[in-house]
Amino acid sequence: MKPHGPIPPGFRADPDGMLLIGGDRADALADMAGDTPLFVYDSAMLTTRVAEWRAAMPTEVQLHYAMKANPYPPLLAFMAQLVDGFDVASGGELKAALASGMPAGDISFAGPGKRDRELEATITAGSTLNLESAGEADRALSIAGHLGLTPSLAVRVNPDFDLKGSGMKMGGGAKPFGVDAADVPSLVRRLLDAGADWQGFHIFAGSQALDAAAIAETQAQTVALAAQLANKIGATPPLVNLGGGMGVPYFPGDKPVDAAAVGNALAATLATRDPILADSRFAMELGRWLVAEAGVYLTRIVNRKTSHGETFLVTDGGLHHQLAASGNFGTVIRRNYPIAVAGRFGVDAEETVSVVGCLCTPLDRLGDQVALPRSDVGELIALFLAGAYGASASPATFLGQGAAREILV
Ligand SMILES: Cc1ncc(COP(=O)(O)O)c(C=O)c1O
Repeated sequence: MKPHGPIPPGFRADPDGMLLIGGDRADALADMAGDTPLFVYDSAMLTTRVAEWRAAMPTEVQLHYAMKANPYPPLLAFMAQLVDGFDVASGGELKAALASGMPAGDISFAGPGKRDRELEATITAGSTLNLESAGEADRALSIAGHLGLTPSLAVRVNPDFDLKGSGMKMGGGAKPFGVDAADVPSLVRRLLDAGADWQGFHIFAGSQALDAAAIAETQAQTVALAAQLANKIGATPPLVNLGGGMGVPYFPGDKPVDAAAVGNALAATLATRDPILADSRFAMELGRWLVAEAGVYLTRIVNRKTSHGETFLVTDGGLHHQLAASGNFGTVIRRNYPIAVAGRFGVDAEETVSVVGCLCTPLDRLGDQVALPRSDVGELIALFLAGAYGASASPATFLGQGAAREILV
């Protein structure tokens, strides 16, 4: 038997033992959707999560949602009402963000390979470009000149530090992301001389960290770096985007980030900031911490079989919807995401099984030798933490399978 990650708090069963998501039975949701596999996103959990963040953080810090984590349009429209801005990573995401009701001025676009048409669409919309290189700055200025528009431009800084303990490091050393810190002052002066509407800095050092102290240390370094750059430039950045980094507990032994500790440390950092940042606004940019726990992936068992003494539950889902849960999205060692039999939620485990997908590859494993209550063909398996980097971060067309259904409840 191999352990699985902790089931997020807040999930419970009805008297029949059926998992409830947003107050609805998992089997009723699958019926309502018409078929499985299915992603269900619980809007009440999104609201709670944002409220939790706001209660923990200093009020002067804004919350931006990195929509790469989950761009499902109804969820996006819901999040647009809850947060202060969206971070997008492509022209396609920009279009979806604009359609969600988020004001164009509260959308920023970071990404190392923006094409001219994406620069043009962002400038035309009046959203902010987080510039990732001097070359990109030249192209943005020239496109804005042709359009006769003043572009909103921030500079994404490649800091000389990374976020310790983060699953994905986005700063420190040679990186395709951002402008090396040493080159930022001259670039910002050039933007100001060109008459651009300089929006400040975007400094994103890493993601998926669970250690509050590491996040706090990175935020302190980030504020110090912003002050140092601002003093070199001789101008106050209107906005300092501090990046994100708050992760979620996917695996056995993982503990949730202590958001209050991050907030308290950030309040102390901001209280003692360099005077050049006195009038700056601050923001954090979070994806998975906001949406991962609100999502459940429901997949139906289509076959139960044994091979060499091992029991396999073969489902109608798989890595084509849940690449990260299968261990094939940037993980070195495969470990089990939280998983349950939806119809016997909270019941003690009775057997050790491997839950696999319907693809003919050994990579397609959703639960490896996990202990679960007994389940059979036709029953639903629930995979948790499916609200982030699930549907949109998995190869849905692989083997002609197609996308999963999605609903927001
Ligand atoms: C620039 C940027 N913003 C936001 C995020 C979202 O990170 P997470 O979903 O871990 O919060 C990422 C993730 O890689 C990123 O690169």
